[in-house]
Amino acid sequence: MAYELIEVRTEGGKVGVITLNRPKQLNALNDALMDELGAALKAFDADEAIGCMVLTGSEKAFAAGADIGAMASYSFADVYKGDYITRNWEAIRAIRKPVIAAVSGFALGGGCELAMMCDFIIAADNAKFGQPEIKLGIIPGAGGTQRLPRAVGKAKAMDLTLTGRMMDAAEAERAGLVSRVVPVDKLMDEALGAALMISDYSRVSVMAAKESINRAFESGLADGVMFERRLFHALFATEDQKEGMDAFVNKRKARFRHQ
Ligand code: CAA
Repeated sequence: MAYELIEVRTEGGKVGVITLNRPKQLNALNDALMDELGAALKAFDADEAIGCMVLTGSEKAFAAGADIGAMASYSFADVYKGDYITRNWEAIRAIRKPVIAAVSGFALGGGCELAMMCDFIIAADNAKFGQPEIKLGIIPGAGGTQRLPRAVGKAKAMDLTLTGRMMDAAEAERAGLVSRVVPVDKLMDEALGAALMISDYSRVSVMAAKESINRAFESGLADGVMFERRLFHALFATEDQKEGMDAFVNKRKARFRHQ
């Protein structure tokens, strides 16, 4: 598929890199862009050679939110009947390999929500996160009121969502929204380094780890622990478990074959 609003490439033959590319609109997320993003993520997810993905934007903006110009004239009937604006975001939730968000500049509204749909966020020191929808007379519509409190707790989620203020990278790291903060010129090196490392591990155990952590947000503790135990035991049926443990015992580097 030819893409117009995103750029797609691979790194080291094993990491899929997707760059949002609507620079004049600060990567505002319209339906066409989200369709392309969903398609690119799905294609990498299905590609045997790819072990991890990195999603990024420009230095100035990861994404400044859903496209306000495109939404401005919608009525309730329009958005409700057509399930507009966030309908095609669900594709991201179905991706089974890890997706790292490498965030520089603005990650606002849908941009912050998109970053939170990824598995973890590495931020540049110029990153700014926020849910400013309240200023537009709406509320977050792509999971922000649900994922933000899970990431940063109720107090900060309420503060950000009710005031619409932005949070810088240092505050976002303290709050637990981002896993690392690096200088802006090191952002892609850092994200690609993590993605390449993840790609070399057993794909089966990487996917199982992602699935099990995500389960923590959908289930009670006892159910979640049982889910983890079933996956943990199942991994003893893989060749990669034999390889990983044999490599450790014999003091050599493991070579996983992803099976
Ligand atoms: N949608 C459409 N266009 C956008 C946009 C958006 N979300 N954000 C920025 N743009 C456009 C601007 O209109 C402007 O276009 P023109 O040059 O044609 O005028 C261009 O991008 C550059 O923006 P600014 O001139 O405003 O740049 P700035 O540096 O002065 O400010 C900013 C940057 C603080 C991010 C500001 O652009 C801004 O506040 N943007 C809107 C952020 C926002 O409200 N996001 C939430 C959207 S609603 C949503 O996301 C719903 C949901 O939950 C799914």
